[in-house]
Amino acid sequence: MRITVCFTGLKTEPWVQGLRAALPQASVEEWRTGASQADYAVVWAPPQQFLDEQPRLKGIFNIGAGVDALLQRRLPPQALVIRLDDAGMSMQMAEFVCHALIRHFRELDGYEADVKQGKWSYRKPRPRSEMPVGIMGLGVLGERVARAVAQFDFPVLGWNRASRTIPGVRCYAGQAAFSEFLAGTRVLVCLLPLTAETENIMNRETLSRLLPGGYVINVARGAHLVDDDLIALLDSGHLAGAALDVFRTEPLPAQHPFWRHPKITLTPHTSARTLRDESIAQIAGKVLALARGEPIAGVVDVKRGY
Ligand SMILES: NC(=O)c1ccc[n+]([C@@H]2O[C@H](COP(=O)([O-])OP(=O)(O)OC[C@H]3O[C@@H](n4cnc5c(N)ncnc54)[C@H](OP(=O)(O)O)[C@@H]3O)[C@@H](O)[C@H]2O)c1
Repeated sequence: MRITVCFTGLKTEPWVQGLRAALPQASVEEWRTGASQADYAVVWAPPQQFLDEQPRLKGIFNIGAGVDALLQRRLPPQALVIRLDDAGMSMQMAEFVCHALIRHFRELDGYEADVKQGKWSYRKPRPRSEMPVGIMGLGVLGERVARAVAQFDFPVLGWNRASRTIPGVRCYAGQAAFSEFLAGTRVLVCLLPLTAETENIMNRETLSRLLPGGYVINVARGAHLVDDDLIALLDSGHLAGAALDVFRTEPLPAQHPFWRHPKITLTPHTSARTLRDESIAQIAGKVLALARGEPIAGVVDVKRGY
């Protein structure tokens, strides 16, 4: 069995070594132009040339959960596209979202600013019943985040395509329920995949429907959010703030207004990182399962886009 590794912008060598150790029966090589045909590919932002030169791939493992960029490429039609299925990401995402939520709810930025000025001052505690948290997308990451937020006794709402039942989470399904979901939400968390249906989903109209003093946590993709609409609603006071981890252009251009907006906290796309050892173990397990003809989790529905 041949496995080829093709990354843009990431070091390939540790992955090649890790996959060789996990799959001693396979030949694992970094892709080079003109390389022989592989059975499986492990990729991150592969060039189109790679996909064109490897028309016989049976499976393409993306070393991330989101496959929106990969699906923009022309892929060998028979190849399964396989995403990372958690591999340590959902716990990181739960930590990150709970941290952003609690920092906002407990006004920790305000306390930090006060302390820096030598002020010993108190802010009035807010009831958590007034801070309902709405999570868009209840997949591998969204469900874990919803459960974690519910542990802190915030009211939790979830919005998905299919209807779901998650203890402690009021679940809404489909377009027909979207308005009601938004109207009951003060802190909006985006954990949707980026598809034609979800692009620009956080815009002036939808964000205006949040409860007053809303807060936006975007940890999915930058193109879910209309940047200018967010700024307008922050400046009008309808929204209290935003924690943004993902952007339309990454790295965020130096002149982008998000860098300096006083109500925006930003991080450089780091809310849930790919953990190499966990990912290699998962990919190796799936390669072996596929070789035995067994079904695997994490196969992307290419038409649906996630
Ligand atoms: N910032 C970071 O570091 C980072 C790291 C990892 C991932 N991400 C992003 O997070 C996204 C989510 O990851 P995941 O693993 O949780 O994905 P997932 O398991 O594929 O879950 C996606 C969820 O979104 C729902 N959904 C999709 N389209 C919808 C629509 N039009 N309306 C309502 N709900 C819709 C799906 O509903 P159904 O179940 O009903 O289909 C599903 O519950 C990824 O696609 C990626 O872009 C970001």
